[in-house]
Amino acid sequence: MVFPDGFVWGAATAAYQIEGAAAEDGRGASIWDTFSKVPGNVADGHTGDVACDHYHRYAEDVRLMDGLGLAAYRFSVAWPRILPTGAGQVNAAGLDFYDRLVDELLAHGITPYPTLYHWDLPQALEDAGGWAVRDTAARFADFAAVVHERLGDRVGTWTTLNEPWVAAFLGYCSGVHAPGRRDPAAAFRAAHHLLLGHGLAARALRAAGAAEVALTLNLAPVVQTDDGHEEAARVDALMNRQFLDPALRGRYPEEVLEIAARHGGLDHIRDGDLAVIQQPIDLLGINYYNPSFVSAAPGEPANPAFPGTEGIRFEPPTGPTTAMDWPIEPSGLETLLVRLSRDYPEVGLLVTENGAAFDDHLTDGVDGDVARDRVHDDDRIGYLDGHLRAAHAAISAGADLRGYLVWSLLDNFEWAYGYHKRFGIVYIDFETQRRVPKDSALWYRDVIKRNGLMG
Ligand code: NOJ
Repeated sequence: MVFPDGFVWGAATAAYQIEGAAAEDGRGASIWDTFSKVPGNVADGHTGDVACDHYHRYAEDVRLMDGLGLAAYRFSVAWPRILPTGAGQVNAAGLDFYDRLVDELLAHGITPYPTLYHWDLPQALEDAGGWAVRDTAARFADFAAVVHERLGDRVGTWTTLNEPWVAAFLGYCSGVHAPGRRDPAAAFRAAHHLLLGHGLAARALRAAGAAEVALTLNLAPVVQTDDGHEEAARVDALMNRQFLDPALRGRYPEEVLEIAARHGGLDHIRDGDLAVIQQPIDLLGINYYNPSFVSAAPGEPANPAFPGTEGIRFEPPTGPTTAMDWPIEPSGLETLLVRLSRDYPEVGLLVTENGAAFDDHLTDGVDGDVARDRVHDDDRIGYLDGHLRAAHAAISAGADLRGYLVWSLLDNFEWAYGYHKRFGIVYIDFETQRRVPKDSALWYRDVIKRNGLMG
């Protein structure tokens, strides 16, 4: 099963999840530094203070990527490294780090795919209201311009946001992510200001000469398990179309406007905003993990992350799951890609994240005569294989899918779960910072080499 010529194979990470060096070289505090230090917010009090120590080990990590044959590496730029208080004075040492990283990648023939916002808002901006206030969108565009000015000569594809639904609704509504607020009205405002920030940043990047601009969303088919369809449509509007439609069609879904109007009103949406948000983009980044299953359940309270879902039950998985308890459903990726190509045909598609956490263990092994630890993660190989087959089927059905980036290169800080959930294709021994490519990494290397799957 061969993929099209030029199909982009890679892996992804994010700054707060891997870099560590949280107090080094002038980096300011982000909302995740603050949030993770509050007891009870993150499993076992884990924080990103050290993480994978990638800030110091980036060269070793790039060598690892090269060894696997990656053509692309998606990482994020930590806003508080560049602008420690979110705006104003630029911290040159922060820019230097990404400058070194990009040069190292290019020296190894790996294309850098930076994401500008992967959830680490400078704490100073949160103190001024965070994404719930409009000014944060303008500050984000300024930040984008600063980073582009330094890296734009070597970076072609710029992704503005990662998963704004998660940033807005887990950060400001259910409160399980930083900044930990529980205010549905603030979440709808945050969603809008994230979108506005995307539009303003996209415009600034384009004006500065960026070759390609992208937006990454967490997207999933919503499947209704009873005979109805209204409940699935409502959840789909909140999770998927709340971001797809403004960015790609210049309008909000009716369901979202109606629910937001009941949760604080709509006065944060100003005339002209949707035209800013609907900047032409070249690529839609898709983070896909699993479908959602819902059914009608009169009397059910709203899901804490989905205001307006009274009377809807989010069904627990029935089949096989990952260590996150997420259902394993590769066909959802095919359904999603085909739908996106049909409904938004003007934008190219890139899977910017797909992967799974499993309970991985180091085992003794040998490689020729040399002792070498191994991680036998057949379950992850099965997950990736299934999803790549689904991606291939979508391409055969006409989806304009340009590439696939596995989440993640390294085991890392999995947000509220801390280091307990391992998504990497490379194992990290967090005691020693030793990197051990798992069997899935070696398998992925072969997939890349043959540009496809066996059989
Ligand atoms: C999506 C997020 O972008 C990433 O940061 C996270 O680790 C993965 N999902 C897995 O939950």
